[in-house]
Amino acid sequence: MPDKGSKLAVIGAGAVGSACVYASMIKGVAREYALFDINESKVKAEALDIAQGSQFAPVSTVEGSSDMAVIKDADVVVITAGAKQKPGQSRLDLAGATINIMKDVIPKAVEQAPNAIFLLVSNPVDVVTYAGLKISGMTPDHFFGSGTVLDSSRLRYLIAQHCGVSAQTVHAYIAGEHGDSEIPLWSSAIIGAVPLLQWGETVDGRKLDESLREAIHHEVVNSAYSIIEGKGATNYAIGLSVAQIVTTILRDERRVLPVSTLLDDWMGISDVCMSVPTLVGRSGVGRRLVPVVTPDEYRGLRASADSIRHVASKFGM
Ligand code: 2OP
Repeated sequence: MPDKGSKLAVIGAGAVGSACVYASMIKGVAREYALFDINESKVKAEALDIAQGSQFAPVSTVEGSSDMAVIKDADVVVITAGAKQKPGQSRLDLAGATINIMKDVIPKAVEQAPNAIFLLVSNPVDVVTYAGLKISGMTPDHFFGSGTVLDSSRLRYLIAQHCGVSAQTVHAYIAGEHGDSEIPLWSSAIIGAVPLLQWGETVDGRKLDESLREAIHHEVVNSAYSIIEGKGATNYAIGLSVAQIVTTILRDERRVLPVSTLLDDWMGISDVCMSVPTLVGRSGVGRRLVPVVTPDEYRGLRASADSIRHVASKFGM
């Protein structure tokens, strides 16, 4: 059971913010949910719609408000507010607009919940986490981004489909940017007790060779584009990803999750927020793990870091 009194606040009542509260509430992640948005009628409607189903989920309360005081003393604050990605736009195209929103929102949120752990979800999440960390004045262990937790779930889903196993049995990480330059860490991926690179045949009799792995990578990178093309936004899988990260924090689960954190000499990479397998618990983020990587994977991670840094520097970060 979650601690009596654990409070999850979500800033932004769009498709993503509302899905974060909905998924968390169904899973019983916290006892109280607070949803903030500047659009009062929207935030109240989303909160009421979720609250009216509360009979069917673990006991909780759900409140929505356009007054930032609603998030007061939250244990975890999830930020989803930001520019909306339109069909054809990359996440990096949203940086300027979303950073401007962060300059307004983050100081107000920190004032209301100074002891919270902050989880950034707004895109481009790595650049925005880096900027937000500076704006907030918080420590990097308490301020990080959802990173490639969703991309890794997409990767595991596809591997599971090809290999005829459950996604829960697949341990595979996408690292680097949550976006076009992200890197699947194939050489450390495991299915059950078998290294993925030694897996036999897929369900349709193929080998998990370089061309199939490349096709899976391509599908992961393009998932958001195709979902946005079809329904205007992605929201359910990111809602579940956030619910998992928040559970890990509030229950001190010490899971290894690829969240986006400020790196300081991680395999020689510093001064950038990006995802690597990271230990997460009640005190936020801890050790960044060092997996086995091939020279190609390592080159890809460095290039991904450069691409995030390049965008951050355009906005004076
Ligand atoms: C996603 O990957 C758009 O970042 C969002 O679903």
